[in-house]
Amino acid sequence: MLTYAADARASSQPPKDYVLGYTDAEQERLIRQAAILAPITERLFREAGIGPGQRVLDLGSGMGDVAMLVARLVGPSGEVVGVERDANSIARAKARALAAGLHNVSFLNSDVKDIVSDQPFDAAVGRFILMFLPDPVSVLQSAARLVRPGGVVAFQEPSWAPMLALGAGLPLWSRTRHLIHETLLRSGANREMGLALYRVFQEAGLPAPRMHLEMALGSDAEFIRLTSDLLCSLRPLAEQHKVSLNELGDLDTLPDRICTEVTAANAVVSLIGVVGAWSRKPTENAR
Ligand SMILES: C[S@@+](CC[C@H](N)C(=O)[O-])C[C@H]1O[C@@H](n2cnc3c(N)ncnc32)[C@H](O)[C@@H]1O
Repeated sequence: MLTYAADARASSQPPKDYVLGYTDAEQERLIRQAAILAPITERLFREAGIGPGQRVLDLGSGMGDVAMLVARLVGPSGEVVGVERDANSIARAKARALAAGLHNVSFLNSDVKDIVSDQPFDAAVGRFILMFLPDPVSVLQSAARLVRPGGVVAFQEPSWAPMLALGAGLPLWSRTRHLIHETLLRSGANREMGLALYRVFQEAGLPAPRMHLEMALGSDAEFIRLTSDLLCSLRPLAEQHKVSLNELGDLDTLPDRICTEVTAANAVVSLIGVVGAWSRKPTENAR
């Protein structure tokens, strides 16, 4: 039986230091973003060897999309434990997993730095979590300790630089993305955590990871709305860090105005670059 030490410290109050917050709108945005990113995430996990029968730990589960994706990969003989600090997010993730008929996934209300398990995992994974942590190396190190020797550690984190460069020809789109970037920068979130994974894996005692960068491209209204919705989630933080959004005009009409710009240019735009990195925990013999 698995036991986890951190549940006792869990609180029903939403954590205050998470930059994107926990509004309904932000939770919906995460779910819609997850649908676009799912094939990219699945490719990484399959390449890393995550498959039937494995027990997998998912860090920073949010609405549960990564945990559910992995639950399908490991099948009914496998098991996924998603770790998430926000109790309301866990409640939604649990309900979604149940509605999807996935009985091999559970969620633990804990900070990712406090997970304790009495049984090893075959893999530890996460998407868009290390970028928000003050000490990603120590979290990766403690997650890797929960993985068996020879097991997999696989994470996806963002790289903003390529997206900012590619959007330069579309002024409104570009300004929107730059202001989101500036807000994240001032809040302390690591916008280039993806590339940092190379160093962070090694500093956590893991072999240098295999890595790749993928970017979802699109031009439809739903695709573009993900960016303006991200800006809305970050609005309180922009005010707090004195990033003025005035130049963007009325935020309610922003998605339509960006769509008009993108359509007029007959252009395709990108979401953030997603850097995938994975390596295997060294076996005892290899040390
Ligand atoms: C951007 S969301 C990503 C959710 C999910 N991995 C996905 O890709 O759809 C980040 C999640 O990590 C959670 N989180 C942030 N810091 C955390 C911590 N220290 N411990 C546990 N969860 C944390 C947040 O509450 C949020 O739900």
